[in-house]
Amino acid sequence: METSEIRRRFLQYFEDRGHTVVPSAPLPASDPNLLFVPAGMVPFVPYFVGQQTPPFPRATSVQKCVRTLDIEEVGKTTRHGTFFQMNGNFSFGDYFKDQAVQYAWDLVTKPQSEGGYGFDESVLYASVYYEDDEAIDIWKRVAGLPDDRIVRLGMKDNFWSMGVPGPCGPCSEILIDRGPEFGAERDWEAGDRYLEFWNLVFMQNIRGEGPGKEGYPILGELPKKNIDTGLGLERVAYLLQGVDNMYEIDEVYPVIEKASELSGRKYGADPIDDVRFRVVADHVRSALMIIGDGVTPGNEQRGYVLRRLLRRAVRSMRLLGYEDPSLVELLPTSLEQMKKSYPELEADFGRISQIAYAEEEAFRRTLTAGTSIFDLAVKNVQSQGAAQLAGAQAFQLHDTYGFPIDLTVEMAAEQGLRVDTEGFKTLMTEQRERAKADARAKKAGHADTSGYRELREKGVTEFTGYQELSTDSQVRGLLRDGVVASAAEQGETVEVVLEKTPFYAESGGQIADEGLIVADGAKLQVLDVQRPVKGLIVHKVKVLEGVVQPGLDVHAQVDHEWRVSACQAHSGTHVIHAALRQVLGPNALQSGSYNKPGYLRLDFAWSSALDQATRSEIEEVANLAVRQDLPVSAQYMTLPEAREWGALALFGETYDEQVRVVEIGGPWSRELCGGTHVKHSSQVGALTVTSESSVGAGVRRLEAFVGMEALHHLGKERALVRLLSESLKARPEELPARIADLSERLRAAEKELEKVRAGQVLAAAAELASKPKDVFGVAYVGHRAPDGVNGGDLRKLALDVRGRMPADRPAVVAVLSVNDGKPAVVVALNDTAREWGLKAGDLVRIAAEQLGGRGGGKDDVAQGGGTDAAGVDGALAAVEHAIGQSVTG
Ligand code: ALA
Repeated sequence: METSEIRRRFLQYFEDRGHTVVPSAPLPASDPNLLFVPAGMVPFVPYFVGQQTPPFPRATSVQKCVRTLDIEEVGKTTRHGTFFQMNGNFSFGDYFKDQAVQYAWDLVTKPQSEGGYGFDESVLYASVYYEDDEAIDIWKRVAGLPDDRIVRLGMKDNFWSMGVPGPCGPCSEILIDRGPEFGAERDWEAGDRYLEFWNLVFMQNIRGEGPGKEGYPILGELPKKNIDTGLGLERVAYLLQGVDNMYEIDEVYPVIEKASELSGRKYGADPIDDVRFRVVADHVRSALMIIGDGVTPGNEQRGYVLRRLLRRAVRSMRLLGYEDPSLVELLPTSLEQMKKSYPELEADFGRISQIAYAEEEAFRRTLTAGTSIFDLAVKNVQSQGAAQLAGAQAFQLHDTYGFPIDLTVEMAAEQGLRVDTEGFKTLMTEQRERAKADARAKKAGHADTSGYRELREKGVTEFTGYQELSTDSQVRGLLRDGVVASAAEQGETVEVVLEKTPFYAESGGQIADEGLIVADGAKLQVLDVQRPVKGLIVHKVKVLEGVVQPGLDVHAQVDHEWRVSACQAHSGTHVIHAALRQVLGPNALQSGSYNKPGYLRLDFAWSSALDQATRSEIEEVANLAVRQDLPVSAQYMTLPEAREWGALALFGETYDEQVRVVEIGGPWSRELCGGTHVKHSSQVGALTVTSESSVGAGVRRLEAFVGMEALHHLGKERALVRLLSESLKARPEELPARIADLSERLRAAEKELEKVRAGQVLAAAAELASKPKDVFGVAYVGHRAPDGVNGGDLRKLALDVRGRMPADRPAVVAVLSVNDGKPAVVVALNDTAREWGLKAGDLVRIAAEQLGGRGGGKDDVAQGGGTDAAGVDGALAAVEHAIGQSVTG
């Protein structure tokens, strides 16, 4: 049975039984504790914990999931996939254990001809949480399972949570016995023979902080008893398709076939290669799905997971012997399979593939640049007989060549070496700390959010700033260093929460409002505004006058000028985004933005630099839209409605929330956005694009000035042109030609100068050749040339001197010069000297040692260098000494 059919049957079965079919949430989880959605129940957490009223009593979904904790295990076992799909049915205080078991058992055992999965009952088992006698009774009654096919297991296996604080509960799983070739009888732990494929969680408790799987505290009961189940779609697929593991199912195997075709190696021929094939197939599919949901490769968090998946796939192809770009072949193969269940991938494939291919390209460059450094480091370690690469080397590879640490670890392991990852981490932390110190100082956020939560419990802060800039309000609470406080006095910097506020909190790329909060006898200056927990707006303020305390009546007043400029900048960002997509096409999708009065920047998915003509065109389209004075409006709707409307959606909203759509000129620009905007596009004023640059693989950044700042910027450029024009005595339009002419002449003069310098150096040759020193019969010229003679000239000098010395007598020439503090040395000798057993390579090495460096070359001429200019005299003496030793010894 095809995977898409297994999925269809599941949804159909539960829809027929009163469940609302809910589409999968995007992979990036909105819970800040999670990077990606790891289970089907995640989008429903607010219903389980009673934070929101569920719009339906029961639901069913096939949720896209990613788990990367076991990324190293991918391909080695049959079960670890990074991307997988979880079929689930959910009850929010509606049915419970009994009904959940009945549904699951019925669907699993019902014949395929009747819409079920048709599993043979005689090989099915159930596991239950060890003290859940009720569940045991149900399995006996509903499924008719005998005692010996029901097994009691502990917390690790049969008590389920998301691994982080939240809802949890005892669970019960359906297992299938795959037969003796997969392991020992009744060995529940190993997991291969008795494969669990459907987990029924009796969601009734709430857990606190603690270890992921067992030993965490149970804080109490949920308001209602719920059901959360997870049927592993890939597991059912491989059981029903008669293959051994999830990499060989219809949705995944074609990528293995493609990889085999490209590499010329066979799947199933070599166990090590097989792991690589599976890594490729798994990771390519995961990357496709993750990029599809709006993540781009980066060095942090989700972006890093994605980068790692792509890089591991590319490297596995290399280890399979395929060196060419491979994603261009593999990604479309994966798309062909996945689009059956996710047709939106096909429409978006231009953008997805562009991001993936750009990342592969960047990684190939990284590999080329870093591999020789890596090899050198490995050679050093090995020559010292050590088994560990130093943390500093791993750090250098990371910092300079972009080698992620796990790549260094993997490549080192292939050479039988370990890496001092602790040392690496220390260096990374130090670097991060330095970078973050600034940012931390600015943000209001404290690591401990309990103070915020305490204030949030008193109610939601109402935001009035869409309609007005000043609001009468009351102080609801204060925080000093993150702790709830009762009052603050003049001179203090604290955080203040009001009942309602017109101050916009930094979000969606727009920075926080500035202004004042005033009261009878008190005055607060607003320094920053943040929304540290949902529903709570926090003002960081400096108390300029008086005392502030909860209950105080205040007047909150946003700085009018500031807000007007902030609106200009934010609307300007939407205008530029729309212009960008009009010029480049719909793939140029914004991935991040930042705007403040007078300035905006926008990051977008695109893999190559924009030429001047394209930049000008974008600027022109944007300024035309400003001039057309398009109306700007905002309205609320559900997410599906917004999508229907073609609004550019951000990722991570839950499907039933109301979203705000901001339009400029109707459909010309429609974006989901909570920011503040001008009322007509003409109020944006001028827009001038000042730069366009790369901020990572497949992501470009545009920066622009807005309104008066745009004019100021143009004014500054005009002043600069005037200055150049005056000092070069040329009209502005003549400047490019004048500058080109000047640089051409400068280059010619430099060449000439070089010739003269070389001439001077060589002029010394005749004199040097005429006064050699006699070293046991060898004519030796040891000479320090003036500082600044480059390696090429030094070599010429050495050869010239040698050529002027009699050929029938052994002659050695050693010349040295210090260039920018770094000494270089060249040794040349004639044939007679070589007949006497002297070698230029040996002598140069001896000289270089004195200079703190190394050197080498042929027998007749060799060169080297070092870092220690103080060793110059020592080097000449050492050569002389070595000549003596050689001819006398
Ligand atoms: N939430 C449960 C799981 O992920 C069903 O196994």
